Amino acid sequence: MHDDGYFDESVAARYDDDENFAPEVVDPTVDFLAKLAGSGRALELGVGTGRIALPLAGRGVPVHGIDISKAMLAKLVEKPSASDVAVTVGDFASTKVEGTFSLVYLVYNTIMNLTEQETQVACFRNAAHHLEPGGRFVVEVLVPRLQKVPSGEEYHAFHVSETHWGIDEYDIATQSLTSHHLMMIDGETHRSSTPFRYVWPAELDLMAQLAGLQLKERWGGWNREPFTGDSEAHVSVWRKPEDERTGFRSIADN
Ligand SMILES: C[S@@+](CC[C@H](N)C(=O)[O-])C[C@H]1O[C@@H](n2cnc3c(N)ncnc32)[C@H](O)[C@@H]1O
Repeated sequence: MHDDGYFDESVAARYDDDENFAPEVVDPTVDFLAKLAGSGRALELGVGTGRIALPLAGRGVPVHGIDISKAMLAKLVEKPSASDVAVTVGDFASTKVEGTFSLVYLVYNTIMNLTEQETQVACFRNAAHHLEPGGRFVVEVLVPRLQKVPSGEEYHAFHVSETHWGIDEYDIATQSLTSHHLMMIDGETHRSSTPFRYVWPAELDLMAQLAGLQLKERWGGWNREPFTGDSEAHVSVWRKPEDERTGFRSIADN
């Protein structure tokens, strides 16, 4: 694998064509995060090309981003207002940056880029390390689509169109997921296969608890849609207690 992980120059070059750059996705995300950041600083884990960090900085929130991919960060730094976002190259499960933050966030399924339970747990600890007391850690991630995979089968076609076939391959024994994409771009076929570790909301809560964080909110989306058994994704918010000795109180006490 390349030093940039799975986000090399060719991925970075077309990353911003993604439908998640649409204002109807970005605006509610930034509204949600800006409110939580308040007058404090925000740290984005896996900042990428700045899809969220740049508009959040535009709202007056000082943002620092960590990313392992120099190719993705190169795209960020060439954008207008890039100087509003500080960046550090590194693995967000372990990289430390200076200072503390009222908000640490990890969006767009990026927790699943950590393909071991151990590194996902380390990521929660790293987020907690950077939070000031009372600060929030926000994760946006899909709910594993195992109900769509019939018993004995491994594949789920999650996107089929003239120009894009997306197929997830599940390994239930190892809780791993490989997303295969075949895309027609300018008349050429591009293939990619990216490994992930899918993770359940309850498992994330346990990782948060190990890191001394408490679940504060869980929504079905950035517009605060209720989280239900039918939700395909969730936006979860954990809080670092004001007094770390109270870290294991029930959420009803918050
Ligand atoms: C799906 S993109 C999301 C980018 C951005 N947060 C967004 O919402 O558009 C995932 C990003 O996480 C980065 N990434 C993946 N694993 C990482 C790791 N272990 N440490 C740091 N960055 C990582 C990738 O390089 C990529 O830029």
